[in-house]
Amino acid sequence: MFSKRNVLIAFMIIIALGILTLSLIYDNVDDVKEDKKTSVKIGVSIYNQYDTFISSLVNHLTEHAKYLEQEKGITITLDMSNAGRNQITQNYQVENYIREDYDIICVNLVDRTDASVAIDMAMKADIPIIFFNRELVEKDLQRWDKLFYVGAVALESGIMQGQIVVDYCKKHFMEIDKNVDRVLQYVILEGEPTHQDALIRTEYVIDTITEAGINVEKLGDEIANWNRAQAETKMSQWLKSIPNEIEIVIANNDDMALGAIDAIKKENIMDPPIVVGIDGTKVGLEAVYNGDMIGTVYNDAKGQAEGIIELAYSLAFDEELPEEIELIEGKYIRKPHIIVTPDNVEEYMK
Ligand code: GAL
Repeated sequence: MFSKRNVLIAFMIIIALGILTLSLIYDNVDDVKEDKKTSVKIGVSIYNQYDTFISSLVNHLTEHAKYLEQEKGITITLDMSNAGRNQITQNYQVENYIREDYDIICVNLVDRTDASVAIDMAMKADIPIIFFNRELVEKDLQRWDKLFYVGAVALESGIMQGQIVVDYCKKHFMEIDKNVDRVLQYVILEGEPTHQDALIRTEYVIDTITEAGINVEKLGDEIANWNRAQAETKMSQWLKSIPNEIEIVIANNDDMALGAIDAIKKENIMDPPIVVGIDGTKVGLEAVYNGDMIGTVYNDAKGQAEGIIELAYSLAFDEELPEEIELIEGKYIRKPHIIVTPDNVEEYMK
């Protein structure tokens, strides 16, 4: 029925169609490869969008992403979601980023001891996670070579806050020591009880003060979860129960220091205690500038944000990190703190 010639023609047509299909597939693969080279999708989940320090860090993330887009001629899609202090919500957000094929996921853990669900999902999908600010436990971080942490050198912040107090005491002890007993009566406002920064700052600030030979007496410690309003409430209670006895308020961050100042101002106290914070947020720096706070410790939100974006870029494009960013043990980027007092505050307000 079929002549040899027709069979040959049909065979040649099939071969030609095959070649055409293969070349189309190959072209598409090439396009995808091309696409990968010029764009990256980063998903970020933060523990609580109403945290002052975190919102400043998030602004810096956006700024640095824009800068890098121009610098490298690429497109960076940076999507943020707020976990609203709920670890289950955060796990869903990570799951969504994975389902929507994001290249890198950045997680500001709600519960820093509960990273396993996010890690399991990321490992399965082979998508790196950059954790930041809320440091996961070492054992979790070591589970996979595509897990990273960007944050501060936690120990430093407590030590530097202590140094601010020590230096201030050297010059003004007589003024601070209201009851002239040569002991510094203090209250301390603490961040979340399981947060590495709250634990470390609380311990090291007092160690640094006492090691400098200053005697201290703790009149109270309260948890205010980094929050200005909660700190104001705690401080008002102290001002009612132990009026005139507090000589210094030590706060684990600027927002809580500002909450204490709000309470002090409302009570209209004649001889108010001195106040010291940590973070160097915009409002914190203003309080140092105005003389409401004796000092703060600059927690480098900008540097940490740059570290996160640069690391995300280097992972997505398989490139080296810039020289000035050190990846410690292949896992950590840690930014140092700086002491800020009225002497240098203007430099940081710019
Ligand atoms: C700390 C910072 C606090 C708060 C907390 C959230 O490093 O000092 O103000 O933002 O992180 O995890």
